[in-house]
Amino acid sequence: MATLSDHPDWRYLLRELDHLYRHQSAGGSAAIRSHQRDVRTRLNRIVEGKPAILDAEPAELPVCVHLARAVDNGLRERTAPVVRAIRNVRHLLRWQYGYEKLPRGLKQKYAYTEFLGPDGPVEGETLILGLVLFAPRCTYPAHSHNGITESYVCLSGASSENDAGVYAPGSMIFNPPGQQHRITTGDFEPCLLSYAWVGSKDALRNPMKFSQKKPAR
Ligand SMILES: [Fe+2]
Repeated sequence: MATLSDHPDWRYLLRELDHLYRHQSAGGSAAIRSHQRDVRTRLNRIVEGKPAILDAEPAELPVCVHLARAVDNGLRERTAPVVRAIRNVRHLLRWQYGYEKLPRGLKQKYAYTEFLGPDGPVEGETLILGLVLFAPRCTYPAHSHNGITESYVCLSGASSENDAGVYAPGSMIFNPPGQQHRITTGDFEPCLLSYAWVGSKDALRNPMKFSQKKPAR
């Protein structure tokens, strides 16, 4: 079975995400600092365990027509090292919807893909790392996650969560378990958010345990 050492581009991407969670300010928040440390600890433990690379067919969804623009914009930002590493695995990404029944209007405007987690492509049981792509003027309905602590890092474009602020590249959004969040994106440019989910193996393996019937990233 292939392992991470057979796929250096996945390893480099995980390394950039580790850097992101290591060097980004927690803004004075003990809860966010603790989450950042937790993500790094779990990530490094997984990488040291020589994780398998699980076979998955790459797949695109309609929103992927915005990916090239999102990458171009992201390469001009402080998040460029991560965006560049994502660009290098772009042909391997398996884009998906996180809903059993997709809310109207979201089909063309949103998709997520995972880098690491129970379903791969890099196998890990205690952490999920992935990416969400939004088209301009997307509203991502309110949802929450039971037993999962979530952070988003804006890599390209701009988004708002719960109308509480505007997050530009380099900003981190933190959602403790159970916290409702609704995301909107800017009028003219797509938005790329990387995300990390931390939770028990059970919580990460059973997304239907989310507090809403329509699970989402
Ligand atoms: Fe979420």
